[in-house]
This record gives sequence, C-alpha cells and structure tokens, in this order.
Amino acid sequence: MRRVIANGEVFVEGERRPLDLVIEGESITALLARGTGPTDAEVIDANGLVALPGAVDVHMHTREPGYTHKEDLITCTRAAAAGGYTTIFGMPNVDPPTMTTEDLDATLELYREKSIVDYNHNPAAKLLDQIAAMADRGIAAYKIFMVVDTGRTYPHPSAIGVHEHGELYEMMKEIAKTDLRLMVHPHDQSLMDVVEQSYWAAGDRSPWAYGKTLAAEDGMIWDTATGTLLRLAEATGCKLHIVHTQTARQIEMIEDARQRGVDVSAETNHWTIFLGTEEDIKEQGSYVLSYYVPPHHQQAVWDALRNGSIDMVASDHAPHTREEKEVGWTDAWAAHTGTPGIQDQLPLLLDAVHEGKLSLARCVDLTSAAPARIFNIDKKGSLAPGSDADIVLVDLGRPWTITNEAVESKIGWTPYHGRSGTGSVVRTLVRGTDVYANGEVTGLPGHGKQVTLR
Ligand code: NCD
Ligand code: ZN
Ligand code: ZN
Repeated sequence: MRRVIANGEVFVEGERRPLDLVIEGESITALLARGTGPTDAEVIDANGLVALPGAVDVHMHTREPGYTHKEDLITCTRAAAAGGYTTIFGMPNVDPPTMTTEDLDATLELYREKSIVDYNHNPAAKLLDQIAAMADRGIAAYKIFMVVDTGRTYPHPSAIGVHEHGELYEMMKEIAKTDLRLMVHPHDQSLMDVVEQSYWAAGDRSPWAYGKTLAAEDGMIWDTATGTLLRLAEATGCKLHIVHTQTARQIEMIEDARQRGVDVSAETNHWTIFLGTEEDIKEQGSYVLSYYVPPHHQQAVWDALRNGSIDMVASDHAPHTREEKEVGWTDAWAAHTGTPGIQDQLPLLLDAVHEGKLSLARCVDLTSAAPARIFNIDKKGSLAPGSDADIVLVDLGRPWTITNEAVESKIGWTPYHGRSGTGSVVRTLVRGTDVYANGEVTGLPGHGKQVTLR
C-alpha cells in the first residue's frame, strides 16, 4: 500500500521543510517537493501539520506481567499511541521480575500478542550467568535499580535492587562484554534510610517529608550514586545510561565523565521538569510521585536539555491506582511511587517549544532521534527515506487541556488533569499503519514488533 502525507511540513535534517512524505508498506520511501508525489497513493492531508519522527520511550513501566490491575500491555501502548510514541521499552519491575532468559522470553511473547506500538524490554542484569544469554534475545539494554523500598514492596522489589558496589562492578564487567548499555536508577539506600529516620522520628510521613528526604543535602542520594556509577563505568568500559537525571551535580559529573571518555547517556523524565515543585507535592501528594526537584535543579535540567548534556526525555510512565496513592496522604512511604506520563509528555514538550523554552530541533532529538541513536535502534528516530514509517503528525498551534477522562491508561488519572498548553498530537502511525487519529486509538494489539538493533 502506498500513502502520501501531503501539504504539510516534514521535520528532517534538523528543520521543518515543506515536503510530501511517501510511505510504501511499512517504510518511508521518499521525501518530495509538495505535489510531486505518486498520484495513485492514498493521501493523508497534513495541511497545517508537521510530521515528526514517532517518539521513542526507552523507559516505561508496562506492569505486565504481574501488576495488570494497574496497567497492561494493551492499555499502556494505547496511551503511547495517543501520546505520539511509536516505540517503547518496558522495565523489569514486573512479576516475575525479568531476570532470566525464561522470564524474558515469556514477557516478549506478551508484547508480541498485545503491543500496539513497537517495543523492546530491558531485563534486570541481576544474575551474572544470564547476562550474555539475554543479549541474544535482541534486547537493547539492561536495567538495574539501586533502590529497594522501605515501607512497601513495590515498585522497587528487592529481587532486582543492587546496592553493593562489588556486585555492580562485576555486573558491569559482564555487560561490557555484550556491548549493550546498562540503565540505572541511581540511589543510595543507606543515606535514604538515615535521612528518613529523622522525619519518621518526628512523626512526619507526609509526601512533602518524602520529597525532602529524596532531595536531602542538595541531592546527595542521587549524586553519590551517580558518582559511583560513572567511576565504575570508567573502570569497566560498560556503557551507562543514567535515568532520573535531576540535579545540577549529576549533570556536572556526567559531563566530566564524558571528558574522560566514558560512554554515558543521561535521561530526564517529564515529572522532573513539569512537576516536582513544593506546590505540586503539597497539592497532589503521592500522585505526583513526590520526588522533590528544587527550582535550581529544575533550571539546571532545562539548561542541560537545551545544550545537550541531557540526551533524552523518557516518560518513566509509572501508573498506580488511586487507592495505592491515597494512602500517601498519611504515609508517603507506603504509597507506590511513580506517576503516568507517556500520553502527556510530548504535548507538554511541544508546549515548552511554543513557550520558547526548547527548540523544536532539541525536542525531536530528545524524544526520538537520540534514544534511537544511543540504543542503536534500527530504522527509528528519523523520517529519512529507508526509515520505518513511524510518524507523529503534530499541530504546533493547537491548544490542549489534559483531562482524566481522556486517559488511555487503566488507572484513569493523570497528574496533569486540568493543565493547558499549545502543541497537539493529531495522528500517530507505526510502520505505516494508523494507531491514533483525531482522538481515537485505532491501533490493534499485536501490531507492535520487537525493534531490531543496528
Ligand atoms: C517506578 C515505578 O512505579 O515502577 N516508580 C518511580 O519511582 N518512578 C519505578 C522507578 O522508576 O524507579
Ligand atoms: Zn526509577
Ligand atoms: Zn522508572
């Protein structure tokens, strides 16, 4: 089947150009001067719209298998399609946590049956003897959490938490042999344990106490872990990806490590830049995750998004039920941390473009080109001929208001309910097939394929 996205603009080679985009089957085959495309093709009228590469989210929590009361692979990939995401990577904090080739094969089979968009899955690198074999399954990266929760058993189960530096060192040596990248949630649990005790002793288990605990001493819980990881990456040659980059010092250390030749990529998440203030946490409590990001760190993150020190924005889409959040008003340590975001993230970033906080070129790089490049994903993150026809049509001038009613996620709420902005996702295509158009998810479970690596 041939389709032409006509009369719009196409984002290619770093800028918007007035071109028609030709799709044959699942691929982009040509970019042509307007009106010069094949005449026998189905026309998608993109007048007033810009075609961007479909967004690539290397960090989302699908909840399947094991936590399907929160979300499943159909609902989360419906949310992805509605949010302009055409590729997602799921995380291993499912049940069973993904640690072996058997777990991984079973989980990938679930994606194959259910996913609407293209995908991969990052297993935990917890078992040294499984690392090499899991690489053969076509994964793009491994994931490890340096955090194990106190006061709850989810979302950071002890099975896949790693605190011991010796264990990290051995793991990174093993991963270095695969040439894949290790994604890490940086955290120092023993510092957290000490800081939280002071709030608990005072009887304060509020979301704001939780936020201040995580942000203690200007971010030492994040910074010390990040320093250790960077030094171990330097020692082992393991490619590293730091998730939840949110302090000025993390950014400085990452830049310093790059100067030394360390292959480190950095990710920040929507909640770091669009939530995370004292007001957000006091108003919404555990619903906004309640990770406090003080204004000077938010500023540093925005600067790093603009200048490229932070490579990408990933959603860290982390749905939990209202029930699992409500308990946070009395004990934030008992509420499951995490907040949804894959449906809202691109519109929020397009609004930042509209407001002049970010260039469209940086927005595209942060959301599609960089994740595809850094995780070696073939045929994604670009609209150049030869790429998969993964396309999001956006209207940069169309206003939006986010509501709980429009949420595709199973949980039915978003921390952005009521927020307005400008720059909307109008239509999403995965390998040439419409998966979202004009407010309706049209993609079918099973359309998604595991991505291939370059
Ligand atoms: C995530 C989750 O809910 O799975 N929650 C969170 O704290 N952001 C896990 C994670 O990203 O660490
Ligand atoms: Zn995390
Ligand atoms: Zn996460």
